[in-house]
Amino acid sequence: MTQRRVATPVSDTDTIYSPDTYVRGVPYDALARLRGSTPVAWVEERPVDDEPAGPGFWAVLRHADACHVLRNPKLFSPRGPADKDLGHGRGRTPVVDPPARSRLRRRLPKAFGARTVAHLSERIACRAQALVDAVAEKGEADFAAEIAAELPLLSAADLLGVPEADRWLLSDWSDRVTRRSAAGYPVGYSPEAPFDPVGCTGMARRAVAARPHGPSDTEAPGPAEETGGELPDLRLYARELAEHKRLHPGDDLMTALVQHAGGKNGPAPDEEFENLFRVFAAAANDIVRGGLSGGMLALLKNPAETARLRADRGLLDSAVEEMLRWWSPVMCLGRTAVTDTVVGNVPVRKGERLVVWLVSANRDEPVFAEPTRFDVGRAPNDHLALGLGPRACLGTHLVRMQMRAMFGAVLDRFDALEPAGEPRRLRSNVHNGIKHLPIRWRPKPAG
Ligand code: HEM
Repeated sequence: MTQRRVATPVSDTDTIYSPDTYVRGVPYDALARLRGSTPVAWVEERPVDDEPAGPGFWAVLRHADACHVLRNPKLFSPRGPADKDLGHGRGRTPVVDPPARSRLRRRLPKAFGARTVAHLSERIACRAQALVDAVAEKGEADFAAEIAAELPLLSAADLLGVPEADRWLLSDWSDRVTRRSAAGYPVGYSPEAPFDPVGCTGMARRAVAARPHGPSDTEAPGPAEETGGELPDLRLYARELAEHKRLHPGDDLMTALVQHAGGKNGPAPDEEFENLFRVFAAAANDIVRGGLSGGMLALLKNPAETARLRADRGLLDSAVEEMLRWWSPVMCLGRTAVTDTVVGNVPVRKGERLVVWLVSANRDEPVFAEPTRFDVGRAPNDHLALGLGPRACLGTHLVRMQMRAMFGAVLDRFDALEPAGEPRRLRSNVHNGIKHLPIRWRPKPAG
């Protein structure tokens, strides 16, 4: 067994931890060096902005070790010590507690059943097409802000059964859930426009009135600072939506959760409904937006692969998987050791935290040939972008559907894609996101 806490070049572990690094780009070189030298590396948690230093954690960088940690929640809990949220990565990937998760997983097959999925798939394809058509003739746009931001909101509204006019709320909640702190740590995207009460429902207006910092304060602190992790406006909206769905059932996930029930699954109690609504409302937006923008960047940086995809649309499914691998919209996931154990030859003590670096595992040389290459036909492609094991992503169908719909529409209407300026990235060591991605193209006539 190797010695614990082997000294690594300070700069590499500091580099992968610092959120400032990611403003310039993912530190692939530092990650690759660490994978080669200390694949389970101790990372000091230095103070960031207004946050004090943390206790540190083990960065798990190789694919095999990542699989081991993610597949074994009995050894590596998604919860932090004393059931607190995990420090690194806290609040930024959705957390569903075990009883709710198994009920959710039992109900989801119905909510995501063939009929619902087919129905959503058609709607999502139409929405993607409309977003692309709306800008096609302009020949240039900010892909991240003007195109990629809208599709996840519209799709989440469709999935959840939230009226389209209220989708600003989804963007606001997503932003506040993912935002890390009040002082100069702009992790979230922030809604592009302030809340516009015209056209939205009474439920939305009442929710906005319950917002701790009022309707127009996009600089308000995140929920942890606002109200101990609560979003009172989201809870109010979720309660009212649940009541609405009981009276007016629709063909959506929230109707399925409040109404479909029967037998041992029972209807979702209000609090559980609110928790699930929070998870879905927050999960479904920013991460998909990051995935879409990352996919577009992959096409821009790899014109030969884009041409290959144009020539053979049968590659769209594998191209989407490759975008997820190449970009890894969620860069890392936090866990806590439940007992003394070993990861990749390194002894880990009960209570110590681990951070599984998906963005590193997805470029691990023994698993992916030429891992830095973007290959739209890559097969097999055992990427971990959507997690693994009992807590793997519950939105995988929806993610893939949105990405296929968006890039299908883009290839239909945008020829000769090229960058039209520098992308502006999120300052986050968890979400691989792009705030602005200026692109240019030659319009193709609608088919
Ligand atoms: C590109 C988009 C997305 C990516 C990359 C992604 C990635 C992930 C990952 C890595 C996890 C595992 C978290 C962990 O193990 O700690 C996760 C969990 C989850 N995801 Fe996603 N996700 C995406 C979109 C979505 C969407 C659209 C939804 C909902 C419609 C969703 C719902 C969830 C839920 C509910 C969980 C928690 C599952 C549980 O705790 O059992 N995700 N996601």
